[in-house]
Amino acid sequence: MSGHVRTSGTIRKLWPQEQTLFRDHLLRLDKASRAMRFAHGVSDSFIEDYARHMSEQGSTVFAYIEDGEVRATAELKKLGDVWGREAEAAFSVEAAFQDHGLGTELMGRVIRAARNRGVHLLYMSCLASNAKMQAIARKHEAELRFEMGEVVGEIVPQEPNYFSILAEAVEDRMGFMMAVLDLQRRVVKAA
Ligand SMILES: CC(C)(COP(=O)(O)OP(=O)(O)OC[C@H]1O[C@@H](n2cnc3c(N)ncnc32)[C@H](O)[C@@H]1OP(=O)(O)O)[C@@H](O)C(=O)NCCC(=O)NCCS
Repeated sequence: MSGHVRTSGTIRKLWPQEQTLFRDHLLRLDKASRAMRFAHGVSDSFIEDYARHMSEQGSTVFAYIEDGEVRATAELKKLGDVWGREAEAAFSVEAAFQDHGLGTELMGRVIRAARNRGVHLLYMSCLASNAKMQAIARKHEAELRFEMGEVVGEIVPQEPNYFSILAEAVEDRMGFMMAVLDLQRRVVKAA
């Protein structure tokens, strides 16, 4: 288990204007995590470019934010111009924050968001060779069916329901409040 203990952080969706927080988190990933996140080694300039296009790609990025810094993310990305049956998910947790349940919690948010957008199949790169990803996918086996060694998870049940939509809406409202508080904290810190 990592030496860091989760204390005061929150999970919420990132706003398009917060792409620099996303970028800084991805840049802080250690070499191995970075390679697993992107399925190959990537340079700093690749990450800067990737984060810059976060909102243009229509991605939904869930982030764990602590003391104004993003420490973990889960990105749900549509394949094509509109949300369809298939989407891609990618996860990243900074080394000091791994093994504290963040990946598990973020995967729950991504599965629900995918279902609410009518996605049935979720592509997760690295799943086949990534023991931790396998472990967190197994913890969601009631909602996510996947074959060992496969990189595609099938969301079950497939259809959104009142509760899944309400839960996302309530969390978005809370997330908005947390974003305002984060912003206020950053402004005060910078003054
Ligand atoms: C994969 C990743 C997202 C997991 O996040 P995390 O916050 O550490 O995950 P959690 O703490 O929720 O769960 C990790 C689980 O893996 C288990 N685990 C840890 N090391 C393991 C290993 N070597 N073999 C099998 N299971 C392992 C833990 O015990 C834990 O399960 P438990 O809660 O039942 O004990 C994170 O490690 C990461 O960002 N890795 C680098 C990037 C990456 O691989 N991204 C995925 C590609 S899209």
